[in-house]
Amino acid sequence: MSTMKLRSMLFVPADNERKLAKSVGSPADVLILDLEDSVAEARKVGARSTAAEFITTQAAQLSARLFVRINPLDTALAMGDLAAVVVPGLAGILLPKTHSAADIVRLGYCLDALEPRAGIEGGTVRIIPVATETAQAMLNMQTFAGPIPRLAGVTWGAEDLSAAIGAVSNREEDGNWSPLYTWANSLCLCAAASAGMPAIDTLYADFRDAAGLAAACRASRRRGFRGRIAIHPDQVAIINEAYSPSEAELAHARRIVDAFAAQPEAGTLSIDGVMVDKPHLTQALRTLGLAG
Ligand code: COA
Ligand code: MG
Repeated sequence: MSTMKLRSMLFVPADNERKLAKSVGSPADVLILDLEDSVAEARKVGARSTAAEFITTQAAQLSARLFVRINPLDTALAMGDLAAVVVPGLAGILLPKTHSAADIVRLGYCLDALEPRAGIEGGTVRIIPVATETAQAMLNMQTFAGPIPRLAGVTWGAEDLSAAIGAVSNREEDGNWSPLYTWANSLCLCAAASAGMPAIDTLYADFRDAAGLAAACRASRRRGFRGRIAIHPDQVAIINEAYSPSEAELAHARRIVDAFAAQPEAGTLSIDGVMVDKPHLTQALRTLGLAG
């Protein structure tokens, strides 16, 4: 399946008309209309129709793709959420509290049934799981080894996992992630790569700290994440920039690709006195947007 541009995915509470209106002008690659944790119980049902109407009326004008975060599959709300929001213009579902890749397959079957009813081409609504939010999920990350229908990316979360574990905090006293969460972060990278899709980093909660967000994004991109969740409009431009290659990176990647093209018989060569071989070429092609 094709790879979507997924640098920034901005969460918008689906029951909040003001935030929905504000999100229309955002440069986010994806808007995630949220029906789950940012919507109070009493407003869950009403939020479905607000989300569906937004998708129907805005999809054509928006440059961002529209995803909906439904409630978890093991709640009574999930099927009603899906029945309401699978309308033309929906690009994908963000699935919270996924227990294993089997949940993605199951959601896929639901979409198989709903797409034709909505007049949507079969198989086109994509799925991004939040893959580390339950204890079972952590033990089941090997289920992502291989292609999964409809998968568009994999993201992870630390807040619900710490609640599931019963941890007082997901941070050490020095403010760094506790080992379980650095493990979840790394497993997200492996799960995404195994399934052949981009890994999307979790949210940066302190939305007034632009410098901290930029630094966190740079570190995350070095590790292999291709984008990040945003919770506030001000985070989107910072995230887009951080997960885009710099001019210097593009130029260096171009040199690597050109060098191999000039010496098609060479398996390894040297650029500025540094050895360059197949993995560098693969990475260079990816940087230039030429890799599959
Ligand atoms: N999407 C769209 N617009 C948003 C927004 C969002 N996620 N967050 C804030 N805005 C809007 C506000 O409505 C406000 O618009 P206005 O100028 O028209 O009034 C403007 O951006 C500035 O907002 P600000 O006052 O800085 O923030 P806030 O205190 O209103 O909201 C949060 C802070 C965290 C509550 C809000 O950013 C939010 O709801 N984030 C998403 C939460 C979420 O979805 N969580 C689930 C995933 S973990
Ligand atoms: Mg949550």
